[in-house]
This record gives sequence, C-alpha cells and structure tokens, in this order.
Amino acid sequence: MGIKILGTGAWLPENIITNEDYTKIVETSDEWIVKRTGIQERRITETPTYIMAQRAAEAALENAGLQPEDIDLILCTTVSSDFITPSMACVIQGRLGAKNAIAFDINAACAAFVYALDMANMYLQNGYRHILIVSAESLSKITDYTDRSTCVLFGDAAGACIVGQGEGRFVSSLGCDGTGAGSLFARQHKNDIPFVQVQDPQEIDHFPDARDGAIYMDGREVYKFAVNAMAKALTEASHKFGMEPAELDLIVPHQANLRIIQSAAKELGLPLERFFVNIDKCGNTSSACIPVGLDSLNREGLLKPGCRVGLVGFGAGLVYGGCVFEV
Ligand code: ACO
Repeated sequence: MGIKILGTGAWLPENIITNEDYTKIVETSDEWIVKRTGIQERRITETPTYIMAQRAAEAALENAGLQPEDIDLILCTTVSSDFITPSMACVIQGRLGAKNAIAFDINAACAAFVYALDMANMYLQNGYRHILIVSAESLSKITDYTDRSTCVLFGDAAGACIVGQGEGRFVSSLGCDGTGAGSLFARQHKNDIPFVQVQDPQEIDHFPDARDGAIYMDGREVYKFAVNAMAKALTEASHKFGMEPAELDLIVPHQANLRIIQSAAKELGLPLERFFVNIDKCGNTSSACIPVGLDSLNREGLLKPGCRVGLVGFGAGLVYGGCVFEV
C-alpha cells in the first residue's frame, strides 16, 4: 500500500511587496536582492495564519471532491501560528467542521511539510483514509524589518494537500543537526514574571542576541547546511526508491534562495527546469513553500500518473527532509 494525492490547494495574499519597497525601510537594492536570492517580490498580509490555512484547506477539499467530515486526520505545519495553544490544526478542524478528524501541529520549520507527509504515510498504513496537511505561514509577523539580511527574504502563504491510500510508493530521508539550533531561530516573547529575577548566567539561554519573537539567521551557516542537505536528502530518498536522483521527473524544493536550488541541481546532475521555482514571486514562506508548489504543479496538470516527484526542505533545527513518491 502506498500514498495518493487526492487534492491540493493554496492561498496567497494579494498585497505584493517589491524589492523597491524595501529600499524605503533598509539599506538595500533590487540588484542585491535579485542577484543574491532570486527574489523579486513577496506577498504579505495581516490575515490571521489560521484563516490563510482554512482557505488553502477549503481549496484542497474542493479539489479532492471531499467533504470536511471525510477527513480523519489534520496535520498543520507552521512557525507563525496565531496561538501558542491550541494548535492551528484544532482551530481549523472546528472552522472546517471536520468533526471526525483528530488534529495537531508539527514544528519542523521549513522542512515540516515533508515531515507531515512522512507522518501521514505512517497513519495511512494504520488505517486512516483521508489526511489533510495544511502548511500556513505569516512570516511577516516574526520578521525584524530593521534587519536587511533577513527581512527581504520572507513572505506569507498557505498550501494544503489531502492524501489517501494508493498504489504510489513513498519513501523519505529525514535528518536533524541540533548543534546548529542557534544559527536560525525566533525566540518566544518574554513575559515579565514578578517573582523571578534571573541572576545565574547558567540560567540564561545561550542563543545569540536577537529581537524577541523575530527570526534571527546566520545566513552563511544556513546556506552551507542547505546546499549539503538538499543533495543528501534527495539522493538518499531516490536510492531508497531504487533509482538515481537524475531520474526524478519533478522536484519541489524549499524556496529559500535560488542559488541554493541551482547548486543542488548541479550537484545532483539535474537540469534546473525540473525544479519548481516561484521564489521570484513569493520569496521564502517557510513550510508553505512546498505545498504551494505542489498545488501549482497539480493545477497545471503536471502531476501525471507514473510521474516521480521529489520534495525537499530544510530549516531551523537545523533539520532537513526529502521524500520521493510516484503519482
Ligand atoms: N541588501 C544589501 N546588502 C545586504 C543585504 C541586503 N538585503 N543583506 C546583507 N547584505 C550585505 C551584508 O551586510 C554583507 O555586507 P559586508 O560584506 O559588508 O559584511 C554582504 O551583503 C554579504 O552578506 P552575506 O550574508 O555574505 O550574503 P550572502 O551572499 O550569504 O546572502 C543570504 C545572504 C541571502 C541570507 C544567504 O546567506 C542565504 O540565502 N542563506 C540561507 C538562507 C536560508 O536558506 N534560509 C532557510 C531557512 S529560513 C526559512 O526558511 C524561514
């Protein structure tokens, strides 16, 4: 028994922010951003993350021809939820009326959609029938707009996918290097607790100084990890599938930097044309990048039966996740 994509959906904000817009708030240029990242514009919204998620989920349900009651598991991925608790998955379950579904969130940063798909595959083996994965991110909520090295990169988006039992094989290659946790993080907002005075240096967290609630990134460190992780994950997953990465028909990579995608393509011996790329229009939307890409391919009719698709993501943790499946 394998996995089958039953439907996909996405929701993108209408509000487009160009590189030129950033030159008004930080010292940067369209030329620098395009040359170093491939990004030309991104979309930003004040819409709550869970409403973005709901819209993508509704589009996926419609695409699959299913009703909310048909869903038995909802997995949400986000690093920019509106709430610490409850999970975004529970909020969506209620708003969709998916009363037969259990629901919880997964935090694996920008690799989370692949982790969720891997988990969905295991639940399918255990008898679940229709699993809704929703990845929604409002990175604008956790972006430091005074930090030019990060603020130009991020955007908002939501993507969703419904999977069920099928004939297509699914394999994955997941990995984690927690020693790199301090090179990419967003700290929780601190509460002023009236009864506690932190004095002991052992009790103070050892991560670099960064604005509470905003993404801090050591770009060069993450870049090195990313190039290596992309190639490793896709190679391992392809080998588990019984083929070489060069035999993949389509790859949907995390959209962090066009140069990272180009390097991975070169290392894997794959033409860039086989990689889905929308970083120029959407920037980096963390875990939403991959399902938004999958939805684009689906709507363009490119997910044809027999087609072998590779997905690969990497991000805070540091984590990476790659998978290969047959449509
Ligand atoms: N405009 C102009 N100059 C800039 C900007 C900017 N927006 N940002 C940085 N610079 C400057 C730096 O200050 C530095 O100047 P200096 O040489 O005088 O010190 C110079 O440009 C070069 O900086 P680098 O950091 O070396 O630039 P680099 O080519 O590495 O590009 C980038 C930076 C785009 C962040 C790159 O390192 C990168 O993509 N890293 C990986 C990001 C990633 O993969 N993230 C994934 C997880 S995050 C997530 O997905 C939510």
